[in-house]
Amino acid sequence: MSAEPQSRPRILVVDDNEQNRALVRAALEDEDYDLTLVADGAEAIAAFEAERPDCVLLDVRMPGMSGFEVCAKIRSLPQGTDTPVVFLTALRDVDTFDAALRSGGDDFLTKPVRPTELVLRVQAALRIRRLNASNREYYELARKQRDDLIRLQLQKERLMAFVVHDLKNPVGVVDLHAQVLLRSKELPEKLRASATSIRDEVRSMIRLITNLLDISKSEEGKLVLASVSVDLPRLVSEVFEALDVAAKARNVTLKRETLVEHVRADADLLRRVLENLLDNALRHAPEGSSVEISATRRETDVEVRVSDAGGGVPPELRERIFDPFVQVESKDSSVTRTGRGLGLTFCRLAVEAHGGRIWLEDANPGAVFCLSLPQGE
Ligand SMILES: Nc1ncnc2c1ncn2[C@@H]1O[C@H](COP(=O)(O)OP(=O)(O)OP(=O)(O)O)[C@@H](O)[C@H]1O
Ligand SMILES: [Mg+2]
Repeated sequence: MSAEPQSRPRILVVDDNEQNRALVRAALEDEDYDLTLVADGAEAIAAFEAERPDCVLLDVRMPGMSGFEVCAKIRSLPQGTDTPVVFLTALRDVDTFDAALRSGGDDFLTKPVRPTELVLRVQAALRIRRLNASNREYYELARKQRDDLIRLQLQKERLMAFVVHDLKNPVGVVDLHAQVLLRSKELPEKLRASATSIRDEVRSMIRLITNLLDISKSEEGKLVLASVSVDLPRLVSEVFEALDVAAKARNVTLKRETLVEHVRADADLLRRVLENLLDNALRHAPEGSSVEISATRRETDVEVRVSDAGGGVPPELRERIFDPFVQVESKDSSVTRTGRGLGLTFCRLAVEAHGGRIWLEDANPGAVFCLSLPQGE
């Protein structure tokens, strides 16, 4: 290749939202680029023709011309056939992805975009632009494979969201009917045991479904808190009641130590964090032992601790135990494993959404899962 004078790459940023433009500017400010920021499609086309940028970062939803229309227009310009166009969009779904590719886009990033990822994608786009013809062929092949993979991933996410969402209602109805049966005085003892098992299994299904829903909400930045003053002893009583069947089945006693009266938190999220932690503790506690919960005030935080006398978490897994799908292979056949390794992932997301922290201590024997929730002033 002939040595071209290396000028600063020029990047055109198109987004109708001022805050988004500022975010992109901040992410790219340490790079040696000339940035042009515009707020709509018509300005984008004019800037493209005047400045011939080396890369375009394009929002999808804008008043007037959409990002797709802008991209198609750029592709129809003589100098616009091979300029890399990277879409930045809040819509993470397969239809948006396909529309982005159809309009001639090269890459697709979902908002909120992490600054380091944006820098890497822009660098990659600029590098690809400088590839010679034979390398470009390889690139096109790899890109096609990448696009197929992204499409599959997005289809999988959409399917999962549907399944999870659509399961929630029927499962809730099963739970209601089991409750109706249990309330009937005429129900024979044997059937009562069956109805109780149905309720218990349905509860863990509901827990799995809501964990999944909240994990995906949090990934999309949509986990919103409704913080109130929660009556903690009452909440703990409710959670104990929900886990009563499981505790009895394993002959484990649920105990409460000192509990602060009130804690500022989102009641539903806190309930489910405690349910997940106590459910784990119950499943690892040896028969005849007890599982304990305590909550104390420490300076500006409330610290909650859930402890059991089971086998604890092996040291090599402690770092990763809050990551999705991490489960310990248990040698102890009495430890029932029904879940998917999402409980602690949900707990961490929920606690961090409160600005708090969750961690694991070694109780020797057993595990102590602790969390602290900031209480403001
Ligand atoms: N109290 C505990 N004692 C020992 N190991 C634990 C304890 N709590 C959790 N673990 C280990 O951490 C792993 C992850 O826990 P997590 O709650 O995320 O998933 P799970 O309980 O396996 O499934 P899910 O919660 O999705 O139903 C568990 O599989 C278990 O091996
Ligand atoms: Mg669990």
